[in-house]
Amino acid sequence: MMYQKAFYDGFLKGEDFMGAEEIGKKIDELLKKMTLEEKTGQLRQCGPSLVGAFEVSFEELLDMMFDGRISKEEFDRLMGTAKQDFREEDLRAGRIGSYNGIGDAETANRLQKIAVEETRLGIPLLFGYDVIHGFRTVTPIPLAESCAWEDGLWERTARLAAEEATAAGVHMTFAPMADVAKDARWGRVSEGAGEDVLLNAHYGASKVRGFQGKELSAPDAMAACVKHFAAYGAVEAGRDYNRVDLSRQKLYEEYLPAYKACIEAGARAVMPAFNDINGVPCSVNKELLRDILREDWGFDGMTVSDANAIAECVTHGIARDKKDAAKQAILAGMDMDMTSDSYHEELISLVESGEVDEKILDEAVSHILRIKFELGLFEHPYRTGAEREREAFLTPEARKLALEAAEKSIVLLKNDGRILPLKKETRIAVFGSMAESAGENTGAWAVGAHPEECVSLLEGLQNEKADVRFYGENMEQIKEAAESADVLLAVLGEHKEESGEAASRADIGLHAEQLSLFEELVATEKPVIVLLMNGRPLAIPEIARKASAVIEGWQLGTEAGNAYARILFGETNPSGKLTVTFPYSSGQCPMYYAHINTGRPGGKSKFTSKYLDTPLEPVYPFGFGLSYTEFSYDALSVEKSGAGVTIRISVKNVGDIPGEEVVQCYYSRRTAKRVGPVRKLAAYQKLFLEPGETEKVVFELKKEDLGYYDKDMNYVTDLEDMVFYAGTNSQDTLEQAL
Ligand code: BGC
Repeated sequence: MMYQKAFYDGFLKGEDFMGAEEIGKKIDELLKKMTLEEKTGQLRQCGPSLVGAFEVSFEELLDMMFDGRISKEEFDRLMGTAKQDFREEDLRAGRIGSYNGIGDAETANRLQKIAVEETRLGIPLLFGYDVIHGFRTVTPIPLAESCAWEDGLWERTARLAAEEATAAGVHMTFAPMADVAKDARWGRVSEGAGEDVLLNAHYGASKVRGFQGKELSAPDAMAACVKHFAAYGAVEAGRDYNRVDLSRQKLYEEYLPAYKACIEAGARAVMPAFNDINGVPCSVNKELLRDILREDWGFDGMTVSDANAIAECVTHGIARDKKDAAKQAILAGMDMDMTSDSYHEELISLVESGEVDEKILDEAVSHILRIKFELGLFEHPYRTGAEREREAFLTPEARKLALEAAEKSIVLLKNDGRILPLKKETRIAVFGSMAESAGENTGAWAVGAHPEECVSLLEGLQNEKADVRFYGENMEQIKEAAESADVLLAVLGEHKEESGEAASRADIGLHAEQLSLFEELVATEKPVIVLLMNGRPLAIPEIARKASAVIEGWQLGTEAGNAYARILFGETNPSGKLTVTFPYSSGQCPMYYAHINTGRPGGKSKFTSKYLDTPLEPVYPFGFGLSYTEFSYDALSVEKSGAGVTIRISVKNVGDIPGEEVVQCYYSRRTAKRVGPVRKLAAYQKLFLEPGETEKVVFELKKEDLGYYDKDMNYVTDLEDMVFYAGTNSQDTLEQAL
């Protein structure tokens, strides 16, 4: 891309930037000059507050829209006329170190100019933003993209997001989310890589590499802030912001490794989670923020609280007031306060009274200054400008990558062979209003997106010159539609507001009106294809039983509609595999493949671990996904090798067309010092095979990656009594004892 070269030429090369030691010296020099007010200023992150157009607070206004006191239209109108207040007086006085939520170069540069030219010490600002799955070019929501099982793709889309977001003035993204999520009711399942810790580790590390690029001081590199540390995905009953009660073994085996992988990939920031773990909120959790993160893992970047989370320690019932919360947080190792102003209001007096040693404050400030130095902001506070911003967005290369990612995220869940892939002349009747919506495709957290720029399913079908008629939700016309069409395509699922933050659901089934639409379509006896758009696993046993074909289409971003159409017509062979289990009913949640066996595993007999009113197996298991071709597995061999275990398996494309297959390798222990999961993912590999082609896949597993914690928290890495599995999903595998 031309703009980049020109832009880079104006910058110093990586080696001209300071090394760690020199940065350390600069930080010490600066700290000596800083007043207490300037120091606490560096720890303060502000969001622009909205003023002018309404008399209530923004939060109240949001509530008014959600509880129906004002309409969405009225809300949008008020927002449109509101002005943003950036607290410029505070900025000039050195009382602000960072902003959250500014996504345009002009505003960022204007505020940066105040920081650099008008404050006493000229320390540049750090701009943080939620760049979760793309910026202006929207790529699939993380849960969807995780279904590609492709580290390289995850890294490439993160690189694209960084190129676009940094052009808009962003320095740090609050991503990746490395929260393992085993409970489909939790709305934020959509923001991560699903229920498995290994996949979350790979996904998170790839994102870190992509966001940060090779050199953090490059103008298109963006610091990654791993969140939400730790175990936010384990909130009780899948209800957002709820408590987390977790054994240490589970925390260390099933949750922490994903964050750790991100730190090892070089992530420069960490966001502690809203939740408590075993009674201690993460925002004031010294064991997490100092002992594990810094001591054990050697992290030397910065921590930034979740929005308002320090002040919320008062509501949690762990701090008496904001002052107490500020004290506990800084002592525990929280460096930056996102928007609660607890540090801003309380830290100076806490230091002056001796309750917080100034050294602790200095340490937090130095973590933030270090990131600013590493980003090169002292030399180049303005990393972008109007011209770069204009050229950066939605380039043809970006759209191409968004299409590739969207296609690879789609999971074919059912295909009875009657109708898919469609032929060009097939007459298609489309039902479900989401089919014509561009904006639904962005999913949650697409804050830099222009939703109207997404391709809807209908547009995608038109781009393919398909023979389509659209009926929306019009059930009266089902009969007529069935008479004049060869196939009925129903777009069902959830609206984008139904997943993401603060969007937990107690019932993860389809809404009643969608189910009745589906039943009426099935009653016509025409083949029904269901295309699901959703941000979490859904309980869809009826759909699975009665539809001719089911396509999990998630929320796929800018190129969604084109990707759906290409999969429907077989121009791209589906290859995605689920990274979450699809249960029969909400009552089974949390349902995940790596569960413990119990002494009475579910079975036919009454006195076994099961529900009376649901089958034992899920509707679709973890790792599941079909292709338009078929693969066969053969000749599994398992043997000890120097460092651990070598697994070999032959995979053959036994169908008529080329295709990609994600080969999955699992393990379990028959006996151990602590009961363990029935199986656990050890490795995966994606293959491309021509028809008739066979490939021998080899997995080299290291002993230390297959270990577990015993009851006294010793990490056990023996290879006793182990069984290995390899196959096409978590259930359908060959097995072999070691
Ligand atoms: C979310 C974070 C997000 C932050 C900043 C919070 O409400 O929990 O994931 O990064 O807001 O926007």
